[in-house]
Amino acid sequence: MQHLATGAAGASLAAWASREAMAQGATARPGKLAPLPGKVSTVSGAAVMEKITAYQDASTYNNFYEFGTDKADPARNAHTLKTDPWAIDIEGLVKKPGRWDLADLLKLSPMEERIYRMRCVEGWSMVVPWVGYSLAELIRKVEPLGSAKYVSFQTLADPKTMPFVGSRVLDWPYEEGLRLDEAMHPLTLLCFGMYGEVLPKQNGAPVRLVVPWKYGFKNAKSLVKIRFTEQQPATAWNKAAANEYGFYSNVNPNVDHPRWSQATERRLGEDGLLSKKRKTLMFNGYEAQVASLYAGMDLRKNF
Ligand code: MTE
Repeated sequence: MQHLATGAAGASLAAWASREAMAQGATARPGKLAPLPGKVSTVSGAAVMEKITAYQDASTYNNFYEFGTDKADPARNAHTLKTDPWAIDIEGLVKKPGRWDLADLLKLSPMEERIYRMRCVEGWSMVVPWVGYSLAELIRKVEPLGSAKYVSFQTLADPKTMPFVGSRVLDWPYEEGLRLDEAMHPLTLLCFGMYGEVLPKQNGAPVRLVVPWKYGFKNAKSLVKIRFTEQQPATAWNKAAANEYGFYSNVNPNVDHPRWSQATERRLGEDGLLSKKRKTLMFNGYEAQVASLYAGMDLRKNF
């Protein structure tokens, strides 16, 4: 290796090998939960070539307000969440409404590993190897009607197992929404696992959404309902503070949050004294894949 690593050819081979290793999902399984392997995805943008965030960080620094508002609360409190039995109800403007049990959702399409950047609106970010398949696979099965323009996502709100449901921080249940074309985009992931294992409860077990070009709060956790609508649905953070959190919430370094800049971010695990803040990328680095969805739109107005 020493020999190979010298010279330009060696350097590029080494770079290729480490990229290949990342693309193969070479992250060591943490060995904490049931395995859920995913095949290498062929979707464009599905394997970011950046250092993967440590599982320890991704599973202990969380936002899941049903279990508390401190970053450490979800990992501490979410053990009470009951994930079995679990189902998602499909409602609204579709030809085939109905209930999908988790077992059937798990079988609906082959699992893929998707190594995505995730950028929280608060200004921190990480790189996570998620496991799941494009939400479009499920949407195609339920056959939206021509009148369906939006998709709304509702998550579990069970005061018996979620100690902060009932608190006034948010209007429960947590709700999110996408335009139908955003929901159909191949990068939009119906996610069942991370790091080659099923999702930890604090990360939204047993099934959540991951939309990598949007701020993290669009990624509704512990989904129980998907509804197809003609009107733009209400969303939890928009209801809480409409001037701060818009419906689109695309990652955009040029449009600041009213209370802080969105130009840079802090990557979890890069907190050393000398570590610089990273520049936030337009659409979180997925511009090539998703910019066309917003052609002609004023992204300052539609934040
Ligand atoms: N989903 C529910 N049900 N409740 C929440 O409080 N928080 C959101 C999102 N999904 C949240 C949620 C926010 S603000 C972020 S940044 C991400 O989940 C965090 O996901 P992670 O903890 O897996 O990193």
